[in-house]
Amino acid sequence: MSSTFHVRGGRPLDGEITVRGAKNLVSKAMVAALLGEEPSVLHSVPDIRDVQIVSDLLAIHGVKVERDVVGGAIRMDPSNVERAHATEIDAHAGSSRIPILFCGPLLHRLGEAIIPDLGGCRIGDRPINYHLDVLRSFGAVVDKREMGIYITAPSGLQGTTIALEYPSVGATEQVLLTAVRAQGVTVLSNAAVEPEIEDLISVLQKMGALITVQTDRTIIIEGVDRLGGYEHVALPDRIEAGSWACAALATKGSVLVRGAQQKPMSTFLNTFRKIGGGMDITEAGIRFYHPGTPLRAIAVETDVHPGLMTDWQQPLVVALTQADGISIVHETVYENRLGFTSALNDMGAHIQVYRECLGGSSCRFGRRNYNHSAVISGPKPLHGAEITVPDLRGGFSYLVAALGAEGVSSIHGIDLIDRGYEQFRDKLTALGADFWED
Ligand code: EPU
Repeated sequence: MSSTFHVRGGRPLDGEITVRGAKNLVSKAMVAALLGEEPSVLHSVPDIRDVQIVSDLLAIHGVKVERDVVGGAIRMDPSNVERAHATEIDAHAGSSRIPILFCGPLLHRLGEAIIPDLGGCRIGDRPINYHLDVLRSFGAVVDKREMGIYITAPSGLQGTTIALEYPSVGATEQVLLTAVRAQGVTVLSNAAVEPEIEDLISVLQKMGALITVQTDRTIIIEGVDRLGGYEHVALPDRIEAGSWACAALATKGSVLVRGAQQKPMSTFLNTFRKIGGGMDITEAGIRFYHPGTPLRAIAVETDVHPGLMTDWQQPLVVALTQADGISIVHETVYENRLGFTSALNDMGAHIQVYRECLGGSSCRFGRRNYNHSAVISGPKPLHGAEITVPDLRGGFSYLVAALGAEGVSSIHGIDLIDRGYEQFRDKLTALGADFWED
């Protein structure tokens, strides 16, 4: 049974922490290692549960994984890739959606792949239809069975032309990881171009892949017969950096996030500045701080890159409960990523959610039954409450709210945060937070 995490809020976070490689690149770069015929080494790997899940999944497929947790290096030797049983995959995948991205590499290496029931955060339906359509387009045969989905490629995988209905991050990665060793050329239009995808492309290029990104979100991949290994330093986790930035704002504190980089965070930094947050950008990292003057309300919407990332939305909403006036947040990436706001209202916030597209353009969730716009009236002092972590980012935002609230909050299910926030307990201690677990 998971412990309860107690936070006595109301004191500013003050100090410095370091972010290492991005969860949403590291897991994919680890899958890419399966495609190589030589070992790969990835650096700046964070100590988070998702990395352990991918390591275990690689290991049950015969990849020799050696990990230096403290130094953050992982070496993967895929010389003996082998089949794994569905029950084994299921047991190791836990609640992760990562097995879906093993399909392309496993089809190339073994001619078959199995996807068990997929988990991931409950932030919408999170279907896998784009992934299956992509695999079919390369010539894979998808067979839904009782134990999961069984995929084969009886005639090998051939380059293809794919136009994504929506620039899905996962579907773009699926195309990249499959096309690099498919026969012939693949043209992917309406691709996602997140910095984590650019970094995955750099990894694949080091392995010998031929990938061209055009200015119009079209990616052209020329399949090659053989890929080698890579050595790569993962780009830093901009979601984690933005989450700590919001914690600095919500607690009226000052946090130097070592490793945070300006360029991939540019949209976040603009938003942070519009709210009135202070920042010092240096080579070593970014210091985020509350300026001591009232924060300003804003209207923002989440979007695919270069828009404001959906993963920044939840901690940002907590910071906006302390801004002066009415803020509007329009979530356009996931249809169900505002459910966490009801617990913030229990803590004293004033947030109303709406089905309509508010504050900006209309999105694909408009006129449907999804509460995907939030109106936040502030500033409202928050007070401690008993809360349960709903998903990874929602969970961290509850932590931010608890740190900024007067009194004690008791948070259940805190272990979910270990999926994506490296050693957050040590970081909270370094920043002077008052918390304990029982
Ligand atoms: N979608 C479909 N069908 C599909 C796949 C996606 O309809 O087959 C929809 C989704 O339901 C969603 C939209 O497309 O509405 C975008 O989903 P996307 O595929 O871009 O997301 P993802 O690849 O599943 C990754 C990150 C998420 C991050 C999103 C958007 C990983 C492991 N996950 O998810 O990160 O929010 O991209 O940037 O890379 C997190 O880190 O907490 C997290 C949820």
